[in-house]
Amino acid sequence: MPSAPLCDAPVDMTQKPDVKAFFDPQSNTIGYVVKDPASTACAVIDAVMQFDYAAGRLSYECADEMIAFIESNGLSLEWIIETHVHADHLSGAPYIQQRLGGKIGIGAGIMQVQDTFGKIFNEGTEFQRDGSQFDQLFQDNDTYQVGEMNCFAMHTPGHTPACMVHVMGDAAFAGDTLFMPDGGSARADFPGGDAGQLYDSITRVLSLPEDMRLFVCHDYGPGGRAIAWETTIGAQQEANIHVGANATREDFVQMRETRDAQLAMPKLIIPSLQVNMRAGEIPRDPSGAMMMKLPVNKL
Ligand SMILES: [Fe+2]
Repeated sequence: MPSAPLCDAPVDMTQKPDVKAFFDPQSNTIGYVVKDPASTACAVIDAVMQFDYAAGRLSYECADEMIAFIESNGLSLEWIIETHVHADHLSGAPYIQQRLGGKIGIGAGIMQVQDTFGKIFNEGTEFQRDGSQFDQLFQDNDTYQVGEMNCFAMHTPGHTPACMVHVMGDAAFAGDTLFMPDGGSARADFPGGDAGQLYDSITRVLSLPEDMRLFVCHDYGPGGRAIAWETTIGAQQEANIHVGANATREDFVQMRETRDAQLAMPKLIIPSLQVNMRAGEIPRDPSGAMMMKLPVNKL
């Protein structure tokens, strides 16, 4: 294992939030509503807005399910967290915020992502690259509260520069840093990605307590098994097919780079990046109409 700085934020395993998962079959994304056990406060993690690419049409079934759950349980929404700038689905964060409030937060690495994709999409100077579209930019080990629950964000670059794992009591939300043990890890070949960095980030995540619950952002049901999203740090240390047991950094980087070279781009990467780097807002043309671009030979 490398000598990466391990997590030194305060872990509190005595706080055990209720975690409700929401699965989007279009992108195999799992979003969450996380409730503070001591109050009605909750947080949303990785809300999805659906997009019919062929028709250029948005829909909100997934986000509506989250909203209905929060309302019917009388919860108050404090945070809407993006674990990173997703490349495979559009964020439902602003749609939920308009209805229920809450602050939209993402890792401070968003500025690097905005700079990279601002160039690829040839955005003008009106596109701010300072993360100001979001309500909160998290730095490594930043702490925050959901009701009375102590939470912190751990910077985990590698898949993307803005990736963060969020820890809420005894539950960690992996984003795309780790998949289920039989799914391994996420790709590291998007602009700004780095397989070695991803290994170092995973090493930090796996230094959390082994009985901490870990919730993943994607699952593809490898080998035909049912979709799953909950595991533990200990199960990952032992059995993750990419980093479990004694996988070295060198082996991981070689495996990741070989594998990534064979992967197709996610179907929704072009619209997802344009929307998600704006905190889920749809870009507009000079007339104010919602409109997206298709850069040719850039990705
Ligand atoms: Fe991702």
